[in-house]
Amino acid sequence: MNVSRDIDLDKYPIHQLDSSIGLELIDRSRSELKTTGVLTLAGFLRRSVVEECVAQLSPIIENESFVHNREHNIYFDDQLDKVAADASVMARMHTTSLTVCGDQITSSVLWDLYQWQPMIEFIAAIVGKDRLYPMDDPLAGLNIKSMRNGDVTNWHFDRSEFTITLLLQQPISGGVFQVRRNLRSDGDPNYAGVEKLLEGEDREVRSFHIEPGTLTVFQGKHSAHRVSPVSGGRRRIVAVFSYFDSPGVRFSDEDRIQFYGRSQVIN
Ligand SMILES: [Fe+2]
Repeated sequence: MNVSRDIDLDKYPIHQLDSSIGLELIDRSRSELKTTGVLTLAGFLRRSVVEECVAQLSPIIENESFVHNREHNIYFDDQLDKVAADASVMARMHTTSLTVCGDQITSSVLWDLYQWQPMIEFIAAIVGKDRLYPMDDPLAGLNIKSMRNGDVTNWHFDRSEFTITLLLQQPISGGVFQVRRNLRSDGDPNYAGVEKLLEGEDREVRSFHIEPGTLTVFQGKHSAHRVSPVSGGRRRIVAVFSYFDSPGVRFSDEDRIQFYGRSQVIN
């Protein structure tokens, strides 16, 4: 990775977080995340590098990705305390995407960026952590998710506190990141609100039209979200970076098989 070639450091000086412009970037980013629930940094990865990433990834997605197909409810949980299995908040939906794991792209800008210390420190500063660590798992830490014509990532809440994505390619239509902010809280599951969302009656759903090269930081534990169905021949491609506040986090073999169809590392 050639940092100054790949990242727009003039706009996003993440290599100088202690400087006044670095501190200003952190302040601005934190306040956007707090105000809107979604931080989008447009043009984070330069356009030419985005195109290189897509060119490198396309044949791997085409020939070597894992098809992730899943029936689920909004909770990714089939048994919820005090909720009947046939309650409308337990409605089942379908999610399909193609996944490429980090170990398939160890010679790539994305692999280097995921582990680049200033990147990790920048994310930590934004989400309010003293330190963050990349996963000790070459399959799970960095994933490329791709959606074809008809694929959808349906409504869900995240289990992780925050998610980092870098959009690489937008489809011709659809594939829009949609968020219903703070639909629930730690103390209030708001089942009536969840029901309304699933019936398509929630007027507070917001759509984010994001350009390739945009880095997104999102806190999805309480905000329901989805990626709307993709249509047309061009795929939606996004890189997902997972960081944790302790070192050494890795998936079990069972998790690896469920999410990636294999437990062995390729490279
Ligand atoms: Fe999510």
